[in-house]
Amino acid sequence: MTFDNHLLDVINKLQDLVYNTIGNDSLDLPQIAVIGSQSSGKSSVLENVVGKDFLPRGIGIVTRRPLILQLVSISEDSPLIYQNNHDYVETANNPETMTLDDHLRKQSGAKPNGPPNEWGEFLHIPHKRFYNFQDIKREIENETSRIAGKNKGISKLPINLKIYSPNVLNLTLVDLPGLTKVPIGDQPTDIEVQIKNLITEYISKPNCIILAVSPANVDLANSESLKLARQFDPQGKRTIGVLSKLDLMDHGTNAFDILSGKVYPLKLGFVGVVNRSQQDIMQNKSLDDSLRSENDFFTSHPVYSKISSKCGTQFLSKTLNNILMNHIREKLPDIKAKLNTLMGQTEQELLSYGDPKQYSIANRGNLILKLISKFANNFTGSIEGDKIDN
Ligand code: GDP
Ligand code: NA
Ligand code: MG
Repeated sequence: MTFDNHLLDVINKLQDLVYNTIGNDSLDLPQIAVIGSQSSGKSSVLENVVGKDFLPRGIGIVTRRPLILQLVSISEDSPLIYQNNHDYVETANNPETMTLDDHLRKQSGAKPNGPPNEWGEFLHIPHKRFYNFQDIKREIENETSRIAGKNKGISKLPINLKIYSPNVLNLTLVDLPGLTKVPIGDQPTDIEVQIKNLITEYISKPNCIILAVSPANVDLANSESLKLARQFDPQGKRTIGVLSKLDLMDHGTNAFDILSGKVYPLKLGFVGVVNRSQQDIMQNKSLDDSLRSENDFFTSHPVYSKISSKCGTQFLSKTLNNILMNHIREKLPDIKAKLNTLMGQTEQELLSYGDPKQYSIANRGNLILKLISKFANNFTGSIEGDKIDN
Protein backbone atom coordinates (compact mmCIF):
# COMPACT_ATOMS: atom_id res chain seq x y z
CA MET A 1 0.00 0.00 0.00
CA THR A 2 1.24 3.48 -0.58
CA PHE A 3 1.09 3.99 3.19
CA ASP A 4 4.16 5.42 4.84
CA ASN A 5 6.54 2.66 5.82
CA HIS A 6 7.43 3.64 9.34
CA LEU A 7 3.80 3.82 10.35
CA LEU A 8 3.19 0.49 8.68
CA ASP A 9 5.93 -1.02 10.78
CA VAL A 10 4.65 0.47 14.04
CA ILE A 11 1.07 -0.57 13.46
CA ASN A 12 2.02 -4.07 12.41
CA LYS A 13 4.26 -4.54 15.48
CA LEU A 14 1.51 -3.23 17.72
CA GLN A 15 -0.95 -5.55 16.04
CA ASP A 16 1.39 -8.53 16.54
CA LEU A 17 1.91 -7.64 20.18
CA VAL A 18 -1.78 -7.26 20.86
CA TYR A 19 -2.60 -10.41 18.98
CA ASN A 20 0.02 -12.50 20.79
CA THR A 21 -0.83 -11.26 24.27
CA ILE A 22 -4.49 -10.33 24.41
CA GLY A 23 -5.26 -12.94 21.81
CA ASN A 24 -7.58 -10.99 19.53
CA ASP A 25 -7.27 -8.07 17.23
CA SER A 26 -8.25 -5.38 19.69
CA LEU A 27 -7.05 -2.67 17.34
CA ASP A 28 -10.21 -3.40 15.44
CA LEU A 29 -9.11 -1.41 12.40
CA PRO A 30 -11.95 0.08 10.40
CA GLN A 31 -13.19 -1.43 7.18
CA ILE A 32 -12.97 0.95 4.21
CA ALA A 33 -15.78 0.77 1.64
CA VAL A 34 -15.81 2.54 -1.72
CA ILE A 35 -19.15 3.81 -2.99
CA GLY A 36 -20.26 5.86 -5.97
CA SER A 37 -22.20 5.80 -9.20
CA GLN A 38 -21.26 3.38 -11.93
CA SER A 39 -17.93 4.14 -13.62
CA SER A 40 -17.16 7.00 -11.24
CA GLY A 41 -13.74 5.43 -10.69
CA LYS A 42 -14.24 3.39 -7.50
CA SER A 43 -12.16 0.38 -8.49
CA SER A 44 -9.45 2.67 -9.87
CA VAL A 45 -9.23 4.60 -6.59
CA LEU A 46 -9.06 1.44 -4.51
CA GLU A 47 -6.39 -0.05 -6.71
CA ASN A 48 -4.29 3.11 -6.46
CA VAL A 49 -4.55 3.10 -2.69
CA VAL A 50 -3.44 -0.53 -2.50
CA GLY A 51 -0.66 0.16 -4.99
CA LYS A 52 -1.24 -2.94 -7.13
CA ASP A 53 -2.81 -3.60 -10.51
CA PHE A 54 -5.37 -6.29 -9.87
CA LEU A 55 -8.94 -5.02 -10.07
CA PRO A 56 -11.14 -5.28 -13.14
CA ARG A 57 -12.01 -1.74 -14.25
CA GLY A 58 -13.75 -0.26 -17.25
CA ILE A 59 -16.71 1.39 -18.87
CA GLY A 60 -20.15 0.25 -17.71
CA ILE A 61 -20.86 -2.19 -14.90
CA VAL A 62 -17.67 -4.14 -14.22
CA THR A 63 -17.77 -4.68 -10.45
CA ARG A 64 -20.87 -6.85 -10.05
CA ARG A 65 -20.21 -8.53 -6.72
CA PRO A 66 -18.77 -7.01 -3.56
CA LEU A 67 -15.06 -7.70 -3.28
CA ILE A 68 -13.92 -7.97 0.30
CA LEU A 69 -10.22 -7.40 0.11
CA GLN A 70 -8.32 -8.29 3.22
CA LEU A 71 -4.73 -7.08 3.30
CA VAL A 72 -2.53 -9.25 5.49
CA SER A 73 0.86 -8.01 6.53
CA ILE A 74 3.61 -10.63 6.61
CA SER A 75 7.16 -10.13 7.75
CA GLU A 76 9.65 -9.16 5.05
CA ASP A 77 12.12 -11.88 5.96
CA SER A 78 9.72 -14.70 6.59
CA PRO A 79 11.54 -17.35 4.57
CA LEU A 80 9.67 -19.19 1.88
CA ILE A 81 10.80 -22.32 0.14
CA TYR A 82 9.95 -23.69 -3.21
CA GLN A 83 8.14 -26.96 -2.60
CA ASN A 84 7.05 -28.06 -6.04
CA ASN A 85 6.16 -26.39 -9.30
CA HIS A 86 3.07 -24.64 -8.02
CA ASP A 87 3.33 -24.50 -4.27
CA TYR A 88 5.47 -22.47 -1.98
CA VAL A 89 5.53 -23.27 1.68
CA GLU A 90 6.04 -20.64 4.26
CA THR A 91 8.58 -22.05 6.67
CA ALA A 92 8.69 -19.15 9.13
CA ASN A 93 11.29 -20.48 11.51
CA ASN A 94 10.34 -24.09 11.27
CA PRO A 95 13.62 -26.04 11.11
CA GLU A 96 11.87 -29.15 9.81
CA THR A 97 10.71 -27.58 6.60
CA MET A 98 13.80 -25.46 6.09
CA THR A 99 16.39 -26.63 3.62
CA LEU A 100 20.08 -26.31 4.37
CA ASP A 101 20.20 -23.47 1.87
CA ASP A 102 17.50 -21.66 3.79
CA HIS A 103 19.46 -22.05 7.00
CA LEU A 104 22.57 -20.68 5.39
CA ARG A 105 20.69 -17.81 3.83
CA LYS A 106 19.01 -17.06 7.12
CA GLN A 107 22.33 -17.09 8.94
CA SER A 108 23.86 -14.75 6.42
CA GLY A 109 20.83 -12.49 6.79
CA ALA A 110 20.03 -12.75 3.09
CA LYS A 111 16.56 -13.18 1.71
CA PRO A 112 15.77 -16.59 0.27
CA ASN A 113 15.71 -16.96 -3.48
CA GLY A 114 12.67 -18.17 -5.27
CA PRO A 115 9.12 -17.08 -4.86
CA PRO A 116 7.94 -13.53 -4.55
CA ASN A 117 6.82 -12.64 -1.04
CA GLU A 118 3.47 -11.22 -2.11
CA TRP A 119 0.48 -13.24 -3.15
CA GLY A 120 -3.31 -13.43 -3.18
CA GLU A 121 -5.65 -16.17 -1.98
CA PHE A 122 -9.37 -16.49 -2.65
CA LEU A 123 -11.77 -17.96 -0.13
CA HIS A 124 -13.44 -19.95 -2.93
CA ILE A 125 -10.12 -21.60 -3.94
CA PRO A 126 -8.49 -22.53 -0.63
CA HIS A 127 -4.71 -22.99 -0.46
CA LYS A 128 -4.00 -21.75 -3.96
CA ARG A 129 -1.56 -18.89 -4.02
CA PHE A 130 -1.77 -16.39 -6.86
CA TYR A 131 1.62 -14.77 -7.37
CA ASN A 132 0.62 -13.05 -10.58
CA PHE A 133 -1.75 -10.13 -10.02
CA GLN A 134 -3.08 -10.37 -13.59
CA ASP A 135 -4.24 -13.89 -12.70
CA ILE A 136 -5.99 -12.43 -9.68
CA LYS A 137 -7.82 -9.98 -11.93
CA ARG A 138 -8.88 -12.81 -14.26
CA GLU A 139 -10.09 -14.92 -11.35
CA ILE A 140 -12.20 -12.03 -10.04
CA GLU A 141 -13.75 -11.72 -13.52
CA ASN A 142 -14.43 -15.46 -13.81
CA GLU A 143 -15.82 -15.74 -10.32
CA THR A 144 -18.04 -12.71 -10.94
CA SER A 145 -19.54 -14.34 -14.05
CA ARG A 146 -19.89 -17.69 -12.30
CA ILE A 147 -22.34 -16.29 -9.72
CA ALA A 148 -23.70 -13.12 -11.32
CA GLY A 149 -23.91 -14.42 -14.89
CA LYS A 150 -22.29 -13.02 -17.99
CA ASN A 151 -24.92 -10.41 -18.79
CA LYS A 152 -24.46 -7.49 -16.37
CA GLY A 153 -26.31 -9.16 -13.50
CA ILE A 154 -25.22 -8.39 -9.95
CA SER A 155 -25.01 -10.54 -6.83
CA LYS A 156 -24.71 -9.57 -3.20
CA LEU A 157 -22.60 -12.66 -2.54
CA PRO A 158 -19.12 -11.28 -1.91
CA ILE A 159 -15.82 -12.47 -3.36
CA ASN A 160 -13.25 -12.76 -0.58
CA LEU A 161 -9.65 -12.08 -1.49
CA LYS A 162 -6.69 -11.93 0.86
CA ILE A 163 -3.48 -10.27 -0.21
CA TYR A 164 -0.39 -11.23 1.76
CA SER A 165 2.48 -8.79 1.52
CA PRO A 166 5.18 -7.12 3.61
CA ASN A 167 4.01 -3.81 2.14
CA VAL A 168 0.47 -3.63 3.49
CA LEU A 169 -1.34 -2.84 6.70
CA ASN A 170 -3.72 -5.40 8.12
CA LEU A 171 -6.79 -3.77 6.76
CA THR A 172 -10.03 -4.58 4.98
CA LEU A 173 -11.14 -2.72 1.87
CA VAL A 174 -14.43 -3.31 0.08
CA ASP A 175 -15.04 -2.66 -3.62
CA LEU A 176 -18.73 -2.41 -4.45
CA PRO A 177 -20.96 -2.34 -7.53
CA GLY A 178 -21.85 1.19 -8.61
CA LEU A 179 -25.12 2.97 -7.96
CA THR A 180 -27.32 2.84 -11.03
CA LYS A 181 -30.94 3.62 -11.93
CA VAL A 182 -31.82 1.98 -15.22
CA PRO A 183 -31.73 -1.84 -15.46
CA ILE A 184 -29.75 -3.31 -18.37
CA GLY A 185 -28.99 -6.89 -19.46
CA ASP A 186 -30.02 -9.43 -16.85
CA GLN A 187 -30.53 -6.78 -14.19
CA PRO A 188 -33.86 -6.88 -12.33
CA THR A 189 -36.27 -3.94 -12.58
CA ASP A 190 -35.50 -2.95 -9.01
CA ILE A 191 -31.73 -2.81 -9.63
CA GLU A 192 -31.46 0.60 -7.98
CA VAL A 193 -32.94 -0.64 -4.70
CA GLN A 194 -30.94 -3.87 -4.78
CA ILE A 195 -27.62 -2.10 -5.18
CA LYS A 196 -28.51 0.42 -2.48
CA ASN A 197 -29.38 -2.40 -0.07
CA LEU A 198 -26.15 -4.17 -0.89
CA ILE A 199 -24.06 -1.06 -0.23
CA THR A 200 -26.02 -0.36 2.95
CA GLU A 201 -24.90 -3.67 4.45
CA TYR A 202 -21.36 -2.31 4.46
CA ILE A 203 -21.64 1.41 5.12
CA SER A 204 -24.20 1.16 7.91
CA LYS A 205 -21.53 -0.33 10.20
CA PRO A 206 -20.27 2.42 12.51
CA ASN A 207 -16.69 1.16 12.08
CA CYS A 208 -16.81 1.60 8.29
CA ILE A 209 -14.94 4.44 6.62
CA ILE A 210 -16.89 5.53 3.55
CA LEU A 211 -14.85 6.53 0.51
CA ALA A 212 -17.56 8.40 -1.37
CA VAL A 213 -16.40 8.83 -4.96
CA SER A 214 -17.97 11.54 -7.14
CA PRO A 215 -16.80 12.18 -10.70
CA ALA A 216 -15.74 15.81 -11.11
CA ASN A 217 -17.40 16.05 -14.52
CA VAL A 218 -20.87 15.65 -12.95
CA ASP A 219 -22.50 18.30 -10.75
CA LEU A 220 -21.82 17.51 -7.09
CA ALA A 221 -25.47 18.24 -6.28
CA ASN A 222 -26.27 15.04 -8.19
CA SER A 223 -23.70 12.90 -6.42
CA GLU A 224 -25.29 9.55 -5.59
CA SER A 225 -22.44 8.58 -3.27
CA LEU A 226 -22.79 11.67 -1.08
CA LYS A 227 -26.55 11.27 -0.93
CA LEU A 228 -26.22 7.70 0.30
CA ALA A 229 -23.30 8.38 2.64
CA ARG A 230 -25.28 11.17 4.29
CA GLN A 231 -28.08 8.74 5.18
CA PHE A 232 -25.73 6.63 7.31
CA ASP A 233 -23.24 9.25 8.38
CA PRO A 234 -25.37 12.39 8.67
CA GLN A 235 -22.67 14.41 10.40
CA GLY A 236 -20.05 13.48 7.83
CA LYS A 237 -17.69 12.06 10.46
CA ARG A 238 -16.54 8.91 8.71
CA THR A 239 -16.98 9.87 5.07
CA ILE A 240 -14.09 10.97 2.85
CA GLY A 241 -15.11 12.67 -0.36
CA VAL A 242 -13.08 11.58 -3.37
CA LEU A 243 -13.40 13.69 -6.49
CA SER A 244 -12.28 11.64 -9.49
CA LYS A 245 -11.82 12.54 -13.17
CA LEU A 246 -10.54 16.04 -12.46
CA ASP A 247 -8.80 15.76 -15.84
CA LEU A 248 -12.18 15.46 -17.57
CA MET A 249 -13.84 18.65 -16.32
CA ASP A 250 -15.07 21.21 -18.83
CA HIS A 251 -12.42 23.71 -19.81
CA GLY A 252 -12.77 26.87 -17.79
CA THR A 253 -14.30 25.08 -14.80
CA ASN A 254 -12.51 23.66 -11.78
CA ALA A 255 -13.27 22.03 -8.44
CA PHE A 256 -11.25 24.33 -6.22
CA ASP A 257 -14.21 25.29 -4.03
CA ILE A 258 -15.26 21.68 -3.52
CA LEU A 259 -11.73 20.59 -2.67
CA SER A 260 -11.36 23.45 -0.18
CA GLY A 261 -14.49 22.30 1.62
CA LYS A 262 -16.59 25.36 0.71
CA VAL A 263 -19.34 23.44 -1.07
CA TYR A 264 -20.15 20.33 0.92
CA PRO A 265 -19.27 19.76 4.59
CA LEU A 266 -17.26 16.63 5.39
CA LYS A 267 -15.04 16.51 8.49
CA LEU A 268 -12.50 14.32 6.69
CA GLY A 269 -12.60 16.56 3.62
CA PHE A 270 -12.46 16.05 -0.14
CA VAL A 271 -9.47 14.73 -2.04
CA GLY A 272 -9.19 15.20 -5.79
CA VAL A 273 -7.61 12.40 -7.86
CA VAL A 274 -6.77 11.58 -11.45
CA ASN A 275 -6.88 7.86 -12.20
CA ARG A 276 -5.94 6.08 -15.38
CA SER A 277 -8.26 6.75 -18.31
CA GLN A 278 -9.78 3.97 -20.37
CA GLN A 279 -7.08 4.57 -22.96
CA ASP A 280 -4.38 4.27 -20.25
CA ILE A 281 -5.91 0.94 -19.22
CA MET A 282 -5.94 -0.34 -22.79
CA GLN A 283 -2.33 0.73 -23.24
CA ASN A 284 -1.35 -0.94 -19.96
CA LYS A 285 -0.05 2.25 -18.41
CA SER A 286 1.75 1.26 -15.22
CA LEU A 287 0.64 2.37 -11.79
CA ASP A 288 3.93 4.21 -11.21
CA ASP A 289 3.53 6.15 -14.45
CA SER A 290 -0.03 6.93 -13.52
CA LEU A 291 0.99 8.29 -10.10
CA ARG A 292 3.67 10.40 -11.79
CA SER A 293 1.29 11.93 -14.30
CA GLU A 294 -1.26 12.52 -11.58
CA ASN A 295 1.38 14.41 -9.65
CA ASP A 296 2.34 16.44 -12.75
CA PHE A 297 -1.31 17.26 -13.34
CA PHE A 298 -1.72 18.85 -9.92
CA THR A 299 1.64 20.58 -9.59
CA SER A 300 1.44 22.21 -13.04
CA HIS A 301 -2.25 23.14 -12.90
CA PRO A 302 -2.98 26.89 -12.78
CA VAL A 303 -5.54 26.45 -9.98
CA TYR A 304 -4.72 23.19 -8.19
CA SER A 305 -0.98 23.91 -7.91
CA LYS A 306 -1.84 26.09 -4.87
CA ILE A 307 -3.29 23.06 -3.08
CA SER A 308 -1.36 20.29 -4.84
CA SER A 309 0.05 18.88 -1.58
CA LYS A 310 -3.54 18.09 -0.56
CA CYS A 311 -4.50 16.44 -3.83
CA GLY A 312 -3.94 13.07 -5.41
CA THR A 313 -3.74 9.40 -4.55
CA GLN A 314 -0.75 9.77 -2.27
CA PHE A 315 -2.51 12.39 -0.19
CA LEU A 316 -5.59 10.18 -0.05
CA SER A 317 -3.44 7.35 1.32
CA LYS A 318 -1.96 9.69 3.90
CA THR A 319 -5.43 10.80 4.92
CA LEU A 320 -6.45 7.17 5.39
CA ASN A 321 -3.28 6.75 7.41
CA ASN A 322 -4.22 9.59 9.72
CA ILE A 323 -7.69 8.20 10.18
CA LEU A 324 -6.20 4.85 11.17
CA MET A 325 -3.73 6.52 13.55
CA ASN A 326 -6.50 8.45 15.26
CA HIS A 327 -8.55 5.30 15.53
CA ILE A 328 -5.63 3.46 17.13
CA ARG A 329 -4.95 6.36 19.49
CA GLU A 330 -8.53 6.02 20.69
CA LYS A 331 -8.08 2.29 21.25
CA LEU A 332 -4.71 2.48 23.03
CA PRO A 333 -5.88 3.26 26.59
CA ASP A 334 -8.13 0.23 26.46
CA ILE A 335 -5.33 -2.00 25.18
CA LYS A 336 -2.97 -0.69 27.83
CA ALA A 337 -5.46 -1.51 30.58
CA LYS A 338 -5.87 -5.04 29.23
CA LEU A 339 -2.08 -5.52 29.08
CA ASN A 340 -1.72 -4.31 32.67
CA THR A 341 -4.29 -6.81 33.92
CA LEU A 342 -2.54 -9.55 31.99
CA MET A 343 0.83 -8.58 33.49
CA GLY A 344 -0.63 -8.58 37.01
CA GLN A 345 -2.09 -12.05 36.49
CA THR A 346 1.19 -13.39 35.11
CA GLU A 347 3.17 -11.96 38.03
CA GLN A 348 0.75 -13.58 40.49
CA GLU A 349 1.16 -16.88 38.75
CA LEU A 350 4.96 -16.61 38.83
CA LEU A 351 4.90 -15.81 42.55
CA SER A 352 2.80 -18.87 43.23
CA TYR A 353 5.75 -21.00 42.06
CA GLY A 354 7.88 -19.62 44.91
CA ASP A 355 10.97 -17.44 45.02
CA PRO A 356 13.31 -18.37 42.15
CA LYS A 357 16.39 -17.46 44.23
CA GLN A 358 15.81 -20.37 46.56
CA TYR A 359 16.45 -22.81 43.73
CA SER A 360 20.14 -23.46 43.26
CA ILE A 361 21.19 -25.30 40.15
CA ALA A 362 21.11 -28.52 42.13
CA ASN A 363 17.59 -27.80 43.29
CA ARG A 364 16.10 -27.09 39.91
CA GLY A 365 14.86 -30.63 39.64
CA ASN A 366 12.78 -29.82 42.65
CA LEU A 367 11.28 -26.77 41.02
CA ILE A 368 10.37 -28.77 37.95
CA LEU A 369 8.65 -31.40 40.09
CA LYS A 370 6.73 -28.65 41.84
CA LEU A 371 5.66 -27.16 38.51
CA ILE A 372 4.57 -30.54 37.19
CA SER A 373 2.49 -31.34 40.24
CA LYS A 374 0.97 -27.86 40.18
CA PHE A 375 0.12 -28.33 36.52
CA ALA A 376 -1.36 -31.78 37.22
CA ASN A 377 -3.43 -30.36 40.07
CA ASN A 378 -4.76 -27.58 37.91
CA PHE A 379 -5.54 -30.05 35.22
CA THR A 380 -7.46 -32.53 37.37
CA GLY A 381 -8.98 -29.56 39.17
CA SER A 382 -10.46 -28.30 35.94
CA ILE A 383 -11.74 -31.75 34.98
CA GLU A 384 -13.44 -32.07 38.35
CA GLY A 385 -14.76 -28.56 37.89
CA ASP A 386 -16.35 -29.68 34.65
CA LYS A 387 -17.96 -32.65 36.37
CA ILE A 388 -19.47 -30.43 39.02
CA ASP A 389 -20.78 -28.06 36.37
CA ASN A 390 -22.47 -30.89 34.57
P1 GDP B 1 -16.08 2.04 -11.16
O1 GDP B 1 -17.14 1.51 -12.06
O2 GDP B 1 -16.61 3.16 -10.31
O3 GDP B 1 -15.37 1.00 -10.37
O4 GDP B 1 -15.02 2.78 -12.11
P2 GDP B 1 -13.70 2.17 -12.78
O5 GDP B 1 -12.56 2.31 -11.84
O6 GDP B 1 -13.99 0.85 -13.36
O7 GDP B 1 -13.49 3.25 -13.93
C1 GDP B 1 -14.49 3.44 -14.92
C2 GDP B 1 -13.86 4.10 -16.15
O8 GDP B 1 -13.49 5.43 -15.85
C3 GDP B 1 -12.58 3.42 -16.61
O9 GDP B 1 -12.60 3.43 -18.01
C4 GDP B 1 -11.48 4.29 -16.08
O10 GDP B 1 -10.35 4.27 -16.91
C5 GDP B 1 -12.12 5.65 -16.11
N1 GDP B 1 -11.61 6.54 -15.05
C6 GDP B 1 -11.67 6.34 -13.71
N2 GDP B 1 -11.14 7.38 -13.06
C7 GDP B 1 -10.70 8.25 -13.99
C8 GDP B 1 -10.03 9.53 -13.94
O11 GDP B 1 -9.73 10.07 -12.87
N3 GDP B 1 -9.75 10.13 -15.13
C9 GDP B 1 -10.06 9.54 -16.35
N4 GDP B 1 -9.73 10.21 -17.47
N5 GDP B 1 -10.69 8.37 -16.43
C10 GDP B 1 -11.01 7.72 -15.28
NA1 NA C 1 -17.11 0.66 -14.26
MG1 MG D 1 -15.76 -1.00 -10.14
